[in-house]
Amino acid sequence: MARGKKLYEGKAKVLYEGPEPGTIVQYFKDDATAFNAEKKDVIDGKGVLNNRLSEFFMLGLDQIGVPTHFLKRLNMREQLVRRCEIVPLEIIVRNFAAGSMAKRLGMEEGTKLPRPIIEYSYKDDALGDPLVPEEYIAAFGWASQHDMDDIYSIAMRVNDYLSGVMYGVGIKLIDFKIEVGRVFEGDFQRLVVADEISPDSCRLWDIETGKKLDKDVFRQDLGNLTDAYTEVAHRLGVLPKNPTPVTKPTLIN
Ligand SMILES: Nc1ncnc2c1ncn2[C@@H]1O[C@H](COP(=O)(O)OP(=O)(O)O)[C@@H](O)[C@H]1O
Ligand SMILES: [Mg+2]
Repeated sequence: MARGKKLYEGKAKVLYEGPEPGTIVQYFKDDATAFNAEKKDVIDGKGVLNNRLSEFFMLGLDQIGVPTHFLKRLNMREQLVRRCEIVPLEIIVRNFAAGSMAKRLGMEEGTKLPRPIIEYSYKDDALGDPLVPEEYIAAFGWASQHDMDDIYSIAMRVNDYLSGVMYGVGIKLIDFKIEVGRVFEGDFQRLVVADEISPDSCRLWDIETGKKLDKDVFRQDLGNLTDAYTEVAHRLGVLPKNPTPVTKPTLIN
């Protein structure tokens, strides 16, 4: 597919103009970053897995009526999405304490929270995506009160969907982050789930063993990140368990 000019290169993806107005081609790179890009590496195959997994989750959300930016997967590393105006927030939903929350409150990682807790950080790499109170969001005009009501209900639906899908394959959804964007349809605008949903943006623990199957494997040097993501993809049936071996062509006399 002919892609247009490069619009943006981020930490994990590159965006190109899509073939139709209002579309974007999202290219998934193999780059991994953590701690606000202080730790960096190239992880062979990560982009391919995240492209597939994000497609899987976005299609599932669409099936249950949660709108997303996803249009179609183009190839191993690229997907076509609707271009939207990204709300400059990282929307984080937590079911169990982990990461910055566990640290901030001195909680043991994995402690079950009394109910899902939503928090917002302001998307700004230079500031390290600081956590912001909801009042800042309305006061600075990052999103209206109406948007915030929509964001809350979208986030909770994504949480129920993802928790259920993961539970079904023996994985506990500890927390995740989404981004949402505005799409304009005539005089109306609505919010859709944008960016990506992948093990880069979720914390996923095996229910039996507690083994981490997400980007913490990279953050904490717990082993091979591609193996962890491949395991998630296999359990979800996103990649075949025994892929047909690629055989070399044989010469027939
Ligand atoms: N549908 C979309 N329309 C416009 N921008 C998008 C869309 N989906 C994701 N984005 C933006 O594209 C960028 C994706 O690249 P990424 O490597 O994740 O960037 P970053 O380093 O900023 O996190 C993000 O800034 C994200 O907000
Ligand atoms: Mg990103």
